[in-house]
Amino acid sequence: MPVIAEIEDLRRLYRRRTPRMFFDYAESGSWSEQTFRENTSDFAHLRLRQRVAVDMSNRSTASTMIGQDVAMPVALAPVGLTGMQCADGEIKAARAAEKFGVPFTLSTLSICSIEDVAAHTSKPFWFQVYTLKDEEFMRRLFDRARAANCAAIVLTLDLQVLGQRHKDLRNGLSAPPKLTLKSIANMMTKVQWGLGMLGTRRRFFGNVVGHAKGVTDPASLSAWTAEAFDETLDWDRVRQFRDMWGGKFIIKGILDVEDAQKAADLGVDAIVVSNHGGRQLDGAMSSIRMLPRIVDAVGDRVEVHMDSGIRSGQDVLKALSLGAHGTYIGRAFTYGLGAMGEAGVTRALQIIHKELDTTMALCGERDVHNLGPQNLIVPQGFDDPTMRL
Ligand code: GLV
Repeated sequence: MPVIAEIEDLRRLYRRRTPRMFFDYAESGSWSEQTFRENTSDFAHLRLRQRVAVDMSNRSTASTMIGQDVAMPVALAPVGLTGMQCADGEIKAARAAEKFGVPFTLSTLSICSIEDVAAHTSKPFWFQVYTLKDEEFMRRLFDRARAANCAAIVLTLDLQVLGQRHKDLRNGLSAPPKLTLKSIANMMTKVQWGLGMLGTRRRFFGNVVGHAKGVTDPASLSAWTAEAFDETLDWDRVRQFRDMWGGKFIIKGILDVEDAQKAADLGVDAIVVSNHGGRQLDGAMSSIRMLPRIVDAVGDRVEVHMDSGIRSGQDVLKALSLGAHGTYIGRAFTYGLGAMGEAGVTRALQIIHKELDTTMALCGERDVHNLGPQNLIVPQGFDDPTMRL
């Protein structure tokens, strides 16, 4: 067994063990992938301030996200098709998250359904929804999330239309995978993955098939996803969704100060500064560079979370130091899942936690709540979208 020292080790194993089509789905951005790349590379422009001879004992990474206790302010982000990365993937990831003490967010485009994940976990998870046209389906999704005791809705606002991902087009991505000579040849080399998939009945989009009108098989599902997203969305509609749910409400996909202000005006519980992991508007700024301005503008009114680009505990520390109240990892836990199932997600969380804790110590901090600008050296213009770094 190779030594798993960092998230990159999990990524390497994941790449070896998972069919190409699903690895590529996770490991891609839209179009030229500039934003996908900059989400991670921009973290490297932030340097840490080393402090010495301070009491570093009794450190704590414990915090809260939307009032919920968390072992560290790192939630698992909603990731579509997680149950294709590894059999029963959403259930495994949710279990790892609950054992670790961090929130798990289930995607609407998951393979395991809301009910299935609820039946196999014991703590309330969060549920992500897209803004879909089908009002009845949306109401039913909220009802199902309520019945499953979900603790929050995470509404994705940056996917009214899909950003084109070239790799997915070339691979003919679908769930379950289309059987072509190329995909069969590739899957035959992924023995562990194949055995897992043969052993589960969860191979379709569990929240949609049999629930959305006219969607009974995967072929009609692709037609449904192409047509389902609401291009006419506006802030009134967002307000309606918030009222339809009536509980804790998080808006995801904010990358602009004006949009952040509008979201804060709605009185939501949190916003997630996010560009969808670079999967939607390629050429948009990285989340980490937009974070400071958004925190400045609305941080006193709403909890500001961030995702896109976090691959280490040091990245988490940098986001928290720039004012994020919480963070999310998507790819980082997906690598773990594809590499080693539930144990791999646990390993990803342990790695991030250890890196966060040790870095905190070397920065001379004992409590995540005390992290702030004093822990960073930020290059001039970092938070200015008009400046090149
Ligand atoms: C879904 O939200 C995706 O980015 O594929």
